[in-house]
Amino acid sequence: MPAKDLDTIVSLAKRRGFVFPAAELYGGFANTYDYGPLGVELKRNIREAWWRSMVRERDDVVGLDAALITHPRVWVASGHVATFHDPLADCKKCKMRWRVDHIAEGQYGEPKRNAAGELLCPNDGGDLTEPRMFNLMFKTQVGTIADDENVAYLPPETAQGIFINFENVVASMRRKLPFGIAQSRVSFRNEITPGKFIFRTLEFEQMEMEYFCFPPADRDNPEEYLALHREWIDYRLAWYRDTLGIDASRLRIRYHEKEELSHYSAGTADIEYLFPWGWGELEGVAARTDFDLGAHGKESGKPITYFDEDTKQHIVPWVIEPAAGLTRTLAVCMLEAYTEEPDEKGEDRVVLKFKPNVAPIKVAVLPLSKNEALRPTARRVYEMIRPVYMTQYDETQSIGRRYRRQDEIGTPLCVTVDFQTVGENGVAGDDAVTVRDRDSQEQIRVPIANLLNVLRDRLPGC
Ligand code: GAP
Repeated sequence: MPAKDLDTIVSLAKRRGFVFPAAELYGGFANTYDYGPLGVELKRNIREAWWRSMVRERDDVVGLDAALITHPRVWVASGHVATFHDPLADCKKCKMRWRVDHIAEGQYGEPKRNAAGELLCPNDGGDLTEPRMFNLMFKTQVGTIADDENVAYLPPETAQGIFINFENVVASMRRKLPFGIAQSRVSFRNEITPGKFIFRTLEFEQMEMEYFCFPPADRDNPEEYLALHREWIDYRLAWYRDTLGIDASRLRIRYHEKEELSHYSAGTADIEYLFPWGWGELEGVAARTDFDLGAHGKESGKPITYFDEDTKQHIVPWVIEPAAGLTRTLAVCMLEAYTEEPDEKGEDRVVLKFKPNVAPIKVAVLPLSKNEALRPTARRVYEMIRPVYMTQYDETQSIGRRYRRQDEIGTPLCVTVDFQTVGENGVAGDDAVTVRDRDSQEQIRVPIANLLNVLRDRLPGC
């Protein structure tokens, strides 16, 4: 069973060095978090698993790392300057600021309304100001002169860097349609909705891919294009299930209603997860048509096209975009992995049952005690494993407490060096160690000479 409430994960995340609330020293900073030593490993592992599935294991997708701060007209062409807005209203009593659409959707419980049917503040029932449209992009200034000419935006998505490099990639990599360009990096949105941990933050990391294909013969009935859209939805859903180990019963596909579609989309399906507060988006798979390449062609005055060798014509490709949230997925991995169950002695233990490929630490080397006789062999074993797997060495406190600590951070395997390993009272050691499995708590004896082979078998995909 996954964690039933978010507070449990928020507290474990801080206590064990996954995610810290940002700038607590200064009273905190809303909707902003720092990733600690284990959080940064978990994030890297999720990104790596995504990159492997989207780029390394496919021969039709290449990678990109485009500039964050780029020409402001990129965001005019993309439609973000004109349409990337949320409706915001302030409570006249408590002064809290709310997204009116979120109140109406019931995200803060059953919406309260006055006699005229107008929405009221979810906090104290106060009247709300008229909603104002608020652009979500952060503005910044390039250069030293602060005027409108020098405004630039922090990117609210990674996608536009891909579209404006489409022709560069085609030319430099000799790519033929269909093919994709993948990118994973930070994005920024001026989100005002508080709470829900790293679900919605001001800066967050995305994993996006734009898959370029031939335009359909019939624009109004693009059957093959929509079939490709469905293929990508299935591919991405399988990744959450099989690669990250998220239980299928807590994943679903939700197709957007027409009025919900983004300004660029001819169809979008969200991959959603059942969070403790209900279903929420993990990834949007959008059928973006030729909107973006067309828009950048128009705005720049230089049409972006692909030369089709077969028909000898320049065409504007259509696009399918699977756009995932890396940091949001990290929250899901933690929620999903969280388990409370009895240990081998029947006492309560907390275990993060990460799949080994995402676990921040793969192996812990634990001498049975701090005894000097054990240390040289334990250090030798540690030095042997460390270059291959992310490994921790820990010799403080009882072995039982150290197992609990490793369970709580999701380390799949613990390797224990004991007196049987090194020998005692004149009896020679067997130069073997105990390998303990996090989930089954089963322990097996393994010769040190064969240890790396055993670890390799038990840590698939690491
Ligand atoms: N290029 C398309 C795009 O950006 P999106 O649905 O707005 O689409 C994709 O974002 C994913 O990015 C979302 O499914 C979500 O996982 C993540 N995401 C979006 N805004 C976020 C935020 N403020 N904080 C954390 N993750 C966010």
